[in-house]
Amino acid sequence: FNDRINIAIDGPAGAGKSTVARLVANELSYIYVDTGAMYRAVTWFMTKLGVEPECQDEVLRHTLNMVLELRPGSEGQKVFVDGEDVTSYIRSTQVNSMVSRYAQIEGLRTHLVHLQRQMALRKGVVMDGRDIGTTVLPDAEVKVFLTASVKERALRRFSELSDADDMSLEQLEKDIAKRDALDEQREISPLRCAEDATVLDTTNMNIQQVVTTIVSFCKSQRDGEKIR
Ligand code: CDP
Ligand code: CDP
Repeated sequence: FNDRINIAIDGPAGAGKSTVARLVANELSYIYVDTGAMYRAVTWFMTKLGVEPECQDEVLRHTLNMVLELRPGSEGQKVFVDGEDVTSYIRSTQVNSMVSRYAQIEGLRTHLVHLQRQMALRKGVVMDGRDIGTTVLPDAEVKVFLTASVKERALRRFSELSDADDMSLEQLEKDIAKRDALDEQREISPLRCAEDATVLDTTNMNIQQVVTTIVSFCKSQRDGEKIR
């Protein structure tokens, strides 16, 4: 693409956002930004420091002082906090269970949204999260809301677990439903489909089908602009 655009991908946990966003970015030679990783990195850091989500001022003070970086790597994006690679720590069960509580803090969201907008200023970004189409990049040229049944999403996550993970499919489904509810019900930029987003129910779609569909949206957008 000569005229670079921004692509916003939102949806609940396990809908396939990060897998699909990374592949779309590869196909278009765009930059992939995983905003969930930013909320996860803050959550990991706060649990390490022992700062509870109720202590909003303290959370904010530490967040404003921490150096949070997303660096593209050969095996996908890596996340650094104060120069330390925390990529493998931020997917823990503990972070999973706490992240949506920290993600409700208004000042924390304002700060991360500001960083996210800066990353998208030069266009050519595929950004995934919960509030990208509604709040972070309301002017994104392509907006997609990915969904799938909660059962299918739990199954997808279940098949990612290693033998060492002692977690039942039922527990996983409950955890996902609980996080979705917190994300949908929070006051500030809740998980919501933007009015101008296209909803893609991926319950019966494989990864490549979803990627091809989104890339085709981008091509239609580009061709539409040329006609005008
Ligand atoms: O990968 P998964 O869908 O499980 O989660 P994630 O995208 O890594 O996001 C983790 C959590 O961060 C979400 O459950 C939200 O609470 C929060 N989040 C958010 O509030 N806004 C975003 N733009 C991205 C994530
Ligand atoms: O980022 P998000 O939480 O929305 O989902 P993900 O981490 O990208 O995807 C969760 C799992 O579902 C991954 O293991 C993907 O390979 C898988 N997946 C799938 O099986 N079929 C799809 N259409 C999309 C994702």
